[in-house]
Amino acid sequence: MGHSLLGSTMSFVSVLMPLVLSMVHVSGVAEDPLLPFSEYLDQDSTIRLSWGFDTQKDSILFEVRARTTGWVGFGFSPNGGMDGADLVIGGVDTKGLYFTDRHGVGNSLPPLDKQQDYRLLALTEADGQTVMKFERSIRACDKYDLPITVMPIKLIYAYGQSDDISYHRRQRGTKEVNLLKYMPQARISDSKYFDLTVTNFTIPSKSTHYHCKIMRLPALDQKYHIYRVEPLLENRDLVHHMLLYRCPPTVTTPYEHACYETEEATECYQAVAGWGVGGGAFELPEVAGIPVGGDGGKILYRLELHYNNQNQSPGIVDNSGFRLYYTAQLREYDAAVLQAGLAVAPGYAIPPNASAFLSYGLCDTHNIPQVLSEPTRDMQVFSVILHTHLTGRKVRVGHFRDGEQIDFLITNEHYNFEYQQAINLGKTKTVQMGDKLLVECTYNTSSRSGLTWVGLSTINEMCLAFLYYYPAMNLSNCISFPDQKALVISLLCRDWIKMMSTKTWNEMSINDYQQTLKMIQQNTVVGNVTDHASYSTGIIPELKATSSVSCKRNRSEVTRLAVSSRLLLLLTAAYTLT
Ligand SMILES: *[C@@H]1O[C@H](CO)[C@@H](O)[C@H](O)[C@H]1NC(C)=O
Ligand SMILES: *[C@@H]1O[C@H](CO)[C@@H](O)[C@H](O)[C@H]1NC(C)=O
Ligand SMILES: *[C@@H]1O[C@H](CO)[C@@H](O)[C@H](O)[C@H]1NC(C)=O
Ligand SMILES: *[C@@H]1O[C@H](CO)[C@@H](O)[C@H](O)[C@H]1NC(C)=O
Ligand SMILES: *[C@@H]1O[C@H](CO)[C@@H](O)[C@H](O)[C@H]1NC(C)=O
Ligand SMILES: *[C@@H]1O[C@H](CO)[C@@H](O)[C@H](O)[C@H]1NC(C)=O
Repeated sequence: MGHSLLGSTMSFVSVLMPLVLSMVHVSGVAEDPLLPFSEYLDQDSTIRLSWGFDTQKDSILFEVRARTTGWVGFGFSPNGGMDGADLVIGGVDTKGLYFTDRHGVGNSLPPLDKQQDYRLLALTEADGQTVMKFERSIRACDKYDLPITVMPIKLIYAYGQSDDISYHRRQRGTKEVNLLKYMPQARISDSKYFDLTVTNFTIPSKSTHYHCKIMRLPALDQKYHIYRVEPLLENRDLVHHMLLYRCPPTVTTPYEHACYETEEATECYQAVAGWGVGGGAFELPEVAGIPVGGDGGKILYRLELHYNNQNQSPGIVDNSGFRLYYTAQLREYDAAVLQAGLAVAPGYAIPPNASAFLSYGLCDTHNIPQVLSEPTRDMQVFSVILHTHLTGRKVRVGHFRDGEQIDFLITNEHYNFEYQQAINLGKTKTVQMGDKLLVECTYNTSSRSGLTWVGLSTINEMCLAFLYYYPAMNLSNCISFPDQKALVISLLCRDWIKMMSTKTWNEMSINDYQQTLKMIQQNTVVGNVTDHASYSTGIIPELKATSSVSCKRNRSEVTRLAVSSRLLLLLTAAYTLT
């Protein structure tokens, strides 16, 4: 890769388009990376739920902490009552632990489920507190279980002062929470906000316009943490995405004009916040905040708005932008955003007539230390925005360590361009320096007649993942691009240049071309916030299939319970008979 290609790769990439951040997330005294979210279920803070999940493994982990030494019940209810509820009851009594999967029937003692679908991981009672940690499948595994979905669900809880679960005097209540799309609302006593918006900007009467406004923040005498980002939208039907970038200290003058038409607008590379169509407000986890201020007002920011004015309506005035909430109560870590995936550079074509064309972008974190002056630390990734344009149908991000795929960071098998928002990872995932992240995008170009190029416009394509992580590093992107020389040689060998022009793309030629793009050498790039990059090469590793998993049963226990209830029945029968 010559320097000029690198340069253009960098500026295109940082330009990063329709990206869309919106953010979402989390909270909790996130000490345990597997339990990043938490909420008190009651007003008096006597019962606290923490949770985390893994949608690929169809697994959700709960920890319930209750201030009692008696029994504790927790579960899900269609309407907040006991009827139709799916719950567990557990505790520690003189004989040891008890923990059972039950279902609500009227107001009587909830009977045991025949099939036990919760797996107990730990149950302790100490200092007047009972702590139950258990997991279950996200879906429902029998007719008495309720599925957990991306919609809010009514959580129910109850606890007693003793271990007699039939004893009627107890504390109980209900709270509605969206477990899989949780968004914290921190109570911040010194909360303030400022707005960064365009002012009376007349949206050009063209279908795609990127507007850039480089501006100062209000004077902030010290360092603060932004903990919540809200979109301010004046023309909801026209604003497609908004991004906020931090500029390097070399950018000193505010100005405003169309992005990507001059070199200047591409100077600010470090994405700090974003919003995309379909998204809402975003709140950071309690351990992290986006740092602002304390620089004597020297650091400028670039607000980028992507207008999608399909009807090319003239004269529409806009004042959209962001409202940023900040606090002086600094959180433990600075948060940052890293762009990973396929470089937005000229020369990458997706053929037409493909119903599931695969593209790949590789982030090789091995190169990160080379562009940083400070020592690196593992990245704790908590939220991700996946980004493609109109033909994107699926996006998966694989996580590799020592040549092995250890996880999917995130997958979206039903990607929808109109709903781009930050997705909580369900647990905080650690990316160690040296790990590789592979962004895979699946495109459907069945309805297109010509090539679709990777590029900025909405009709071009992209394959990116924006990773929210802490602690912040001075990084902007970690991307790759197929080696152009290797690609041209492969294409020449197969006489494909002719095909490109005649556009006769059928299943066989599409597969062949897709394989070529994947097998050839990739140039990998890691860029820092002052636009210095480190280059290397790599190959695209194999991603595992996203497999379906079976329900999490506590098999051994099912048998024990079955046996014991049969025994009990026999005993009862014997007793009744005598
Ligand atoms: C924006 O336009 C409104 C309505 O025309 C006007 O009242 C306001 O003063 C304008 N703001 C600026 C900063 O020009
Ligand atoms: C691709 O899109 C076409 C029409 O645009 C649709 O008929 C087809 O089902 C899609 N294929 C897949 C695999 O999504
Ligand atoms: C970016 O990388 C260059 C070259 O390695 C280095 O001189 C510069 O200090 C780096 N910038 C930051 C902010 O780390
Ligand atoms: C980023 O770079 C700036 C300027 O070189 C430096 O002051 C700061 O400590 C760096 N931050 C991190 C997290 O490395
Ligand atoms: C699209 O692919 C199908 C199946 O391989 C092939 O029969 C058809 O000719 C292709 N259409 C075009 C326009 O290339
Ligand atoms: C699951 O199995 C463990 C260990 O065998 C046991 O302690 C626990 O009570 C069981 N839980 C359920 C819900 O069956």
